[in-house]
Amino acid sequence: MRLDKFLCKSTELTRSEAVASIEAAEVSVNGEVVTDSAVQVHENNNITLNGQVLTARASRYIMVHKPLNTLSSNVDGDYPSVMNCLDMEKVCDLHIAGRLDADTTGLVLITDDGRWSFNIINPKYHCEKVYRVSLRDPITADIAQKFARGMQLQGEASLTRPAKLEELEPKEVLLTITEGRYHQVKRMFAAVGNRVNALHRQQIGDVTLDIDVGRWRHLTAAEINSFSDN
Ligand code: URA
Repeated sequence: MRLDKFLCKSTELTRSEAVASIEAAEVSVNGEVVTDSAVQVHENNNITLNGQVLTARASRYIMVHKPLNTLSSNVDGDYPSVMNCLDMEKVCDLHIAGRLDADTTGLVLITDDGRWSFNIINPKYHCEKVYRVSLRDPITADIAQKFARGMQLQGEASLTRPAKLEELEPKEVLLTITEGRYHQVKRMFAAVGNRVNALHRQQIGDVTLDIDVGRWRHLTAAEINSFSDN
């Protein structure tokens, strides 16, 4: 990770304070003063600030049950950020692994470990996301097959990857997709002449949402590791 990020993870400094300390030649890496904040360091390096050895805090891995009308961003906008659900320090260091629309509820994974979130977001890894979808119209018999074959969405160069549709009730389905294209679920149903009335993400990979709306919890070791084995 970058040296300024390491400083933030091991002290109470903000990113700009960390950069200032580095530029003021207060930081050494393996005995050498380093003044470039972008230098890559490893947690095993001997890194000191004014002679004090620094140890990075453990990375954080969190699930949040995103409420309706919240933003999957770090700052408030037209709606409050989902990050407001987190009552912990240094929320600004965290990022969301796979955004949801403001009007989508459900499972959001949050971390400060960029490599880990890459395994979830990168379409190459085909991480499954399960959505519960409430529809305007009852589904017709052909839709599951169309989704399984892949859909041509407007403005997209390639078909969507095979998706799995399970009917719960005529207007209530579970949809499993392995990508995260822009408004993907809503656009898939629009492409077959239907409309999503409500959308809720209940699972990502092996991690299932099991907390009340607006609450958060740390992931278990097994949940964290389930994304590291890709
Ligand atoms: N697909 C959508 O259309 N919206 C979301 O929030 C997630 C997937």
